[in-house]
Amino acid sequence: MEMERTFVMIKPDGVQRGLVGKILQRFEDRGMKIAGMKLIHVTVDLASTHYEEHVGKPFYEPLMKYIQSGPVVVAVIEAPDAIEQVRKMVGATDPADADVGTIRHTWAQDVTRNRIHAADSPASAEGEIGIYFKEGEILDYPLSVHDWMFRD
Ligand SMILES: Nc1ncnc2c1ncn2[C@@H]1O[C@H](COP(=O)(O)OP(=O)(O)O)[C@@H](O)[C@H]1O
Ligand SMILES: [Mg+2]
Repeated sequence: MEMERTFVMIKPDGVQRGLVGKILQRFEDRGMKIAGMKLIHVTVDLASTHYEEHVGKPFYEPLMKYIQSGPVVVAVIEAPDAIEQVRKMVGATDPADADVGTIRHTWAQDVTRNRIHAADSPASAEGEIGIYFKEGEILDYPLSVHDWMFRD
């Protein structure tokens, strides 16, 4: 089975609300592999690189302030079709529009403070992994459950 890597970030409100374990549990429950993970404080430099595409939008300044307002958990999640599958699990940007059962629908109410970020394309996954992870921080290891989950 062809594996793909995606980037996720549990935003400061997710950490403060004690949702790190619960959110990561959803990925583990689907048999997705955590290939990298750390708790960091997003600096202004990291935030401006990550959110470059949003410069000039009305929510840019509040977003920049919010993302730097406390520690976040960044992770690399590996699975078949990981980018699209994780975006589906995360739900629509505005939690009010997110499908019932998605992470944002379950734990968020506010369009800015929507608990979690996930890369939206192969290019953004690669770019965001590169912004937040150094070489050697992403681990290549067999997840034994994958032998049982996927056909050769
Ligand atoms: N209309 C908006 N008003 C306030 N904040 C927003 C709005 N749109 C997006 N944001 C914030 O900016 C982040 C990045 O936006 P975007 O990339 O469009 O969404 P997504 O996180 O679903 O990929 C969102 O997750 C959210 O925190
Ligand atoms: Mg986005």
